[in-house]
Amino acid sequence: MQTFNQIAPLKTLVEQYKADRLRVALVPTMGHLHQGHIHLIEYAKQIADKVVVSIFVNPLQFDRLEDLQNYPRSFKADQQKLVEAQADILFAPEESTMYPNGLDNPATVHVAGLSEALEGAKRPGHFLGVTTVVAKLFHIVQPDVACFGEKDFQQVAIIRRMCEELMLPVEIASVPIVRYDNGLAMSSRNSLLSAEQRAHAPKLAQVLRWAGQQLASGLDARQVSLETAQKLNELDFKTDAIDIVDADSLTPLTQSSQRAVILAAAYLGKIRLIDNLVVKL
Ligand code: PAF
Repeated sequence: MQTFNQIAPLKTLVEQYKADRLRVALVPTMGHLHQGHIHLIEYAKQIADKVVVSIFVNPLQFDRLEDLQNYPRSFKADQQKLVEAQADILFAPEESTMYPNGLDNPATVHVAGLSEALEGAKRPGHFLGVTTVVAKLFHIVQPDVACFGEKDFQQVAIIRRMCEELMLPVEIASVPIVRYDNGLAMSSRNSLLSAEQRAHAPKLAQVLRWAGQQLASGLDARQVSLETAQKLNELDFKTDAIDIVDADSLTPLTQSSQRAVILAAAYLGKIRLIDNLVVKL
């Protein structure tokens, strides 16, 4: 695996791949890699000839400085994991490479509306940061396909919309959530939980499954949302949001909705966990 932190040599190698008619996949990450990321890389290897993984903790997508400062980082261990996963390229740019004029007034990419809805309402500017950095990565790497995990359900929908509206020639592949045996969705943030919180965290997925059953059995979405939040709070989570929307449009459910998604965000102590469940209607 070759590691680059500069754009030019990375581009030269990717251009060579393209000249050799090789299909290139990008797996964008913020590092602190876990089995969920490795699964994304394995998936990318199945659908492309060469896999580029980026590691960049993107400051523009953090709405709280404390969250950015506390974001777990483990570059050396990540690099080793990527070698083992047989990624072809690691792109790990510095902040000054991605934001050459600093972060005060950067040029941005904004998917209006969808970025302010749901999770976006809780985390102002978050999705603008995500689309900006993902658009930059797409311009730099020029992948044929990019792989994202469905744990960030709204993120995937926004990135798809960005590609559609800006006519970016990148296929978006989304990959189902990878869970531990106890149901907890894999996330870099799990490592910030204490041992006690970690043992408690799978209850979020359990309550989500319960909510899915209620919804599938015909209970009103608003009622399910209220009861789910209540259950989580009784279990010592601090519920931040339980949104139940059409999984295809991320707008309120209608009679013609085919699939609902339950989007959950809840704090365990200071750590904000997210998870989601798609329910066929
Ligand atoms: O999902 C993430 O890890 C990040 O939002 C992404 C897509 C790498 C952009 O920084």
